[in-house]
Amino acid sequence: MVQVSAGLEGVIAAATVLSDVDGQAGRLTIRGWAVEDLAGRARFEDAVHLLLDGFFDDLPADLAPALGEARVQAFAEVAALDDALAARDPYDAMRALLARLPDGDSLCDALTLALTLAVAPAVFTAATLRRRQDQEAIAPDPALPHAADFLRMIRGATPTEGEARALDAYLVTVCDHGLNASTFAARVAASTRAGLASAVLAGLSTLKGPLHGGAPGPVIDMLDAIGTADNAVPWLETALDAGERLMGFGHRIYRVRDPRADALKAALSRLSKSAGALPGRLALAEAVERAALDILRRRKPDRPLETNVEFYTALLLEALDLPPQAFTCVFAAGRTAGWIAHAREQQASGKLIRPQSVYVGPRPRAAA
Ligand code: SDX
Repeated sequence: MVQVSAGLEGVIAAATVLSDVDGQAGRLTIRGWAVEDLAGRARFEDAVHLLLDGFFDDLPADLAPALGEARVQAFAEVAALDDALAARDPYDAMRALLARLPDGDSLCDALTLALTLAVAPAVFTAATLRRRQDQEAIAPDPALPHAADFLRMIRGATPTEGEARALDAYLVTVCDHGLNASTFAARVAASTRAGLASAVLAGLSTLKGPLHGGAPGPVIDMLDAIGTADNAVPWLETALDAGERLMGFGHRIYRVRDPRADALKAALSRLSKSAGALPGRLALAEAVERAALDILRRRKPDRPLETNVEFYTALLLEALDLPPQAFTCVFAAGRTAGWIAHAREQQASGKLIRPQSVYVGPRPRAAA
């Protein structure tokens, strides 16, 4: 009897030097570093270098200047952002602009394309958010670090050091995560020898779904709908009775708490200390989290459903005054580094990804 692994659950589909997700221990290792040791210390530039190291001969030791220049290159495509595109979901607008970038090494050298793809989600998200407010897009400042420039291009003012550090902590925390759905999609595209932009676009389109990268925005909706700690249990019970899933909980691999939840919660508390805001919101979130974990444990005793990366992502990005409809765009701004590295790793393997299926359709019919 053929055994189909639904959702490829439990299937090992690649060997990678990039990251390891230990679901039993609740550990994420990125190129040998525990994620909690990277978050809050490494900048996005460092994460890009960590991931791309070894996949490009000419990778500069300090990527900040090259990434600054790449933001300027990407910004040239913002001229195509018309009112119709700006009126779309910000994720769709950002994806449409990214699709204008050259695909394949023939049109520009591979490293230039890779670095442009690494910064493009940030540049295009910022321009789209400003256009949606009827404001002119702001050109990058290549002299600024990436996270600071990302916030500056959205706001029109340079962020505080604490805000830039908080966004760096987020971008680094989500930069890579084993063979998640969007990274697998990027590898599949790269395995056919489609170009790097095609691989990033495959990842980008896959990340959008609410079961994957589309979850943090709905976490804010849930917190707003619950409103007070006393309302957490009745609201959550009603949602689960209606067959809904609680956004920010559960994971295909982690059977214990996602280590990124606490890394992002630590970044949030550092930011709150410097910004002095948020204690009430954090207290509500913690009450909702406690209630959700208790109810899920009671309802699904055989399936550990713990807090995943998205729950505290939502609070951190909200604390940075980013709109919930752009949360998945910001997720892509971090994960694009991982998609590029995995695409290069897959290309280097030279192996086409092509699993099989078992046919359960109608038996062959004789033509009339
Ligand atoms: C990310 O893979 C990655 O690494 C992804 C990611 C990354 O960095 O790339 O970590 C990022 O995608 C995090 C997950 C963000 N999504 C959410 O928070 C959405 C809510 N969570 C889920 O829908 C769910 O937990 C998944 C999709 C994340 C994982 O689901 P699985 O492993 O496919 O398991 P499943 O859907 O088969 O669920 C098993 C059972 C089901 O109950 P039964 O039908 O067997 O009775 O658990 C239930 C599910 O209904 N369940 C939940 C639940 N998650 C699973 N019930 C309520 N709330 C939830 N959140």
